[in-house]
Amino acid sequence: MPSIAIVGASGYGGTELLRLLHRHPSLDIHLVAAAASAGAPVRTAAPNIPDRAGGGELLDTVDVEGLARADVVVLGTPDEVSLELAPALLAAGTRVVDLSGGFRLDAATFRTWYGHEHTAPVHAMDGTDPAVYGLTEHARESIAAARLVANPGCYPTATLLGLIPLRELLEPAGIVVNAMSGTSGAGRSSRDTLQASVVHGDVVAYGAPSHRHTVEIETHGAPGGMSAPIVFTPHLVPMSRGILATISAALRPGVGQADVDATLADAYGSEAFVHVLPVGEFPRTKSVHGANSCLLSAIVDERTGRVLVTSVIDNLVKGAAGQALQNVNVMLGLDEAAGLDVIGVYP
Ligand SMILES: NC(=O)c1ccc[n+]([C@@H]2O[C@H](COP(=O)([O-])OP(=O)(O)OC[C@H]3O[C@@H](n4cnc5c(N)ncnc54)[C@H](OP(=O)(O)O)[C@@H]3O)[C@@H](O)[C@H]2O)c1
Repeated sequence: MPSIAIVGASGYGGTELLRLLHRHPSLDIHLVAAAASAGAPVRTAAPNIPDRAGGGELLDTVDVEGLARADVVVLGTPDEVSLELAPALLAAGTRVVDLSGGFRLDAATFRTWYGHEHTAPVHAMDGTDPAVYGLTEHARESIAAARLVANPGCYPTATLLGLIPLRELLEPAGIVVNAMSGTSGAGRSSRDTLQASVVHGDVVAYGAPSHRHTVEIETHGAPGGMSAPIVFTPHLVPMSRGILATISAALRPGVGQADVDATLADAYGSEAFVHVLPVGEFPRTKSVHGANSCLLSAIVDERTGRVLVTSVIDNLVKGAAGQALQNVNVMLGLDEAAGLDVIGVYP
C-alpha cells in the first residue's frame, strides 16, 4: 500500500488531513511530525482523531530520511519551513505536496510579494524542476507527473475555481474579489485579534490592497494575468471555518447568462467536487463545512454588464488538506475521491 507522511501534523491543515486519512482505504500513514509539539500525543492537537496506536500515538520529530521513506510527504508548515524541507525531501527521493505559499510563484514575484529572496528558486514556478500549481480540476495531468505540488491558497482556490472557466467571456480589467474567511484560516495562532472575545460579533477587512493571494490569483488564472490587476479584499468573519468569495467582472460584449451557464456546465458538469447552483441561488459556507466541495453560482447583471460569481469552500478542506489529499491521490494513481467522500454538515 502506498504511504504518506505529514509534517505540521499538529497544525490545523495537518490535523484536518489526519481526519480525512482516517477514511482513506488505500494509504498508509507512515509518519506524523511536528516541531514544538513533537513528543506530544496526536490527540492533544487533534482530539477528534481516533488513536491508531491505542496507547497514545505521539507526534514525531522532523527527520528527513525517515520522512522520505513515504511515497509522498505533505508539508503543513509555514512558508520558510517548507522552503527548507521540500528541496531536502525531493533530494532524498520522495514527492511533496506543500500547503504553504513557498512554491506558488516564480522566484522574482515571490521576492516582490513576500519581501525576501526565494531560498529554493530551482523549485519555484520558473525553476528547472518547478513546482506544479495544484488546483486539481485544472491541472490533473501535470499533478500526476509532479515531484512537487504547490497546493493553492484557500482564497485563490475559491476564486480561481470560479474565474478560470469564464476567462474567455470576461473583460480582463476591473475584476473585484471580496472574500470572507473564518478564523482557522490563520492557523493555530494565539494572536490577540483572533481571540473569541474580539472575533465574536465582529467583521473586519484586512491585508488590502496587497494581500499575497492577490498575485496568486492574477498569476494562476485571472484573465489578463498580472497585466490586468484584480482588486482583492479579504475579510475575517466570526466563524471557525469556511470561505465565501464574490467575484464581480465585466462581460465581453454580447456575452449573456446562457453563455456563462453553458461554460460552467462544460467545465464542471462531470466534476465530483465542484458544483454549480441554479441561477438565482447563492451558496452558503455551511453547505461545504467539512467537505472537499466548492459550490459556485453565477448571475449576470444586464444593467451593469457584469457577472457576479459566488464561490464557497471549507478553507481547511478544499482550501488546504482536502485538495492536498486530492492531489496525493492523483500523484499516486489512486481514486481521486478516496478519503474525500464526505458531504458538508448542515445546519
Ligand atoms: N489554515 C488554513 O486555512 C490554510 C489554508 C491553506 C494553506 N494554509 C497554509 O498551510 C500551512 C499550515 O497552515 P496551518 O493553518 O495548519 O498552520 P498552523 O496551525 O499554525 O500549524 C503549523 C504547523 O507547522 C509546524 N511547524 C512550525 N515550524 C516547524 C518546523 N520548523 N519544522 C516542522 N514543523 C513546523 C507546527 O508544529 P508545532 O506546532 O509542533 O510547532 C504546526 O504543526 C501554512 O503555510 C498556511 O499558510 C493554511
